[in-house]
Amino acid sequence: MIFINTIEKTTVWSFPDRGNWLTHKGDYPGNWSPHVPKNIILRYSTEGDIVLDQFVGSGTTLIEAKRLNRRCIGSDINENALNICRQRIDESNNIFIKKQDARYLNLLKNNSIDLICTHPPYADVIEYSKNIQGDLSLLELDEFYNQMELVAKSCYRVLKPNKYCAILMGDRRKKGLIEPIGFNTMNIFIQLGFKLKEIVIKEQHNCKNTDKWKEISLKRNFLLIAHEYLFVFIKK
Ligand SMILES: C[S@@+](CC[C@H](N)C(=O)[O-])C[C@H]1O[C@@H](n2cnc3c(N)ncnc32)[C@H](O)[C@@H]1O
Repeated sequence: MIFINTIEKTTVWSFPDRGNWLTHKGDYPGNWSPHVPKNIILRYSTEGDIVLDQFVGSGTTLIEAKRLNRRCIGSDINENALNICRQRIDESNNIFIKKQDARYLNLLKNNSIDLICTHPPYADVIEYSKNIQGDLSLLELDEFYNQMELVAKSCYRVLKPNKYCAILMGDRRKKGLIEPIGFNTMNIFIQLGFKLKEIVIKEQHNCKNTDKWKEISLKRNFLLIAHEYLFVFIKK
């Protein structure tokens, strides 16, 4: 059953807070507000389902999945992220925290996941490590897109048919022009076989560099990026 009174009903979402319940702290670089995975999990899965976040970072998705009685697999390529997850949530029969490369998802069988709910790096907008092999946040844009093809392929492989895959992605500006990382990523997933169920515009809040960019945007006459895209795909 969907908790219809507590979930978003339009394609524009805005959550100024990063969550102050349970062990949410909102202190991991580029973390997402727990309202995002909460909404995805409630709308696209049911109790007991297996939710995967393969770019799990500090474990925001795991905390929400557990609270909503889902089973959950959280993986990341960075041990530091996995250690933070383990401080915030206990592993159990229903919550698994594993080191795994999102490009291959080697620990997962075909057609085994009920919902993918994840938040990859936006190319090198935030660097998550200095030199971890396979860390997508270290890649220039063209190579990032090449590796996202592998990510999309693995998403398609592990997801059960007729189930959903939700990905949050943002754009960046370079030399005054927009690089549409969001739409390019969306197209990669569509080319790999997914059908597009929704595009949600998510307003961005509390970004570290907003003040610096405000000044530059006035001087150079451009708009501040203040949104990200949540793409919801279905495997048909
Ligand atoms: C945007 S953060 C996720 C933040 C998370 N939603 C949260 O609330 O804490 C992206 C994560 O992707 C991880 N990452 C980068 N490349 C990866 C790869 N190839 N496989 C798995 N994780 C990767 C980074 O280590 C980082 O923790």
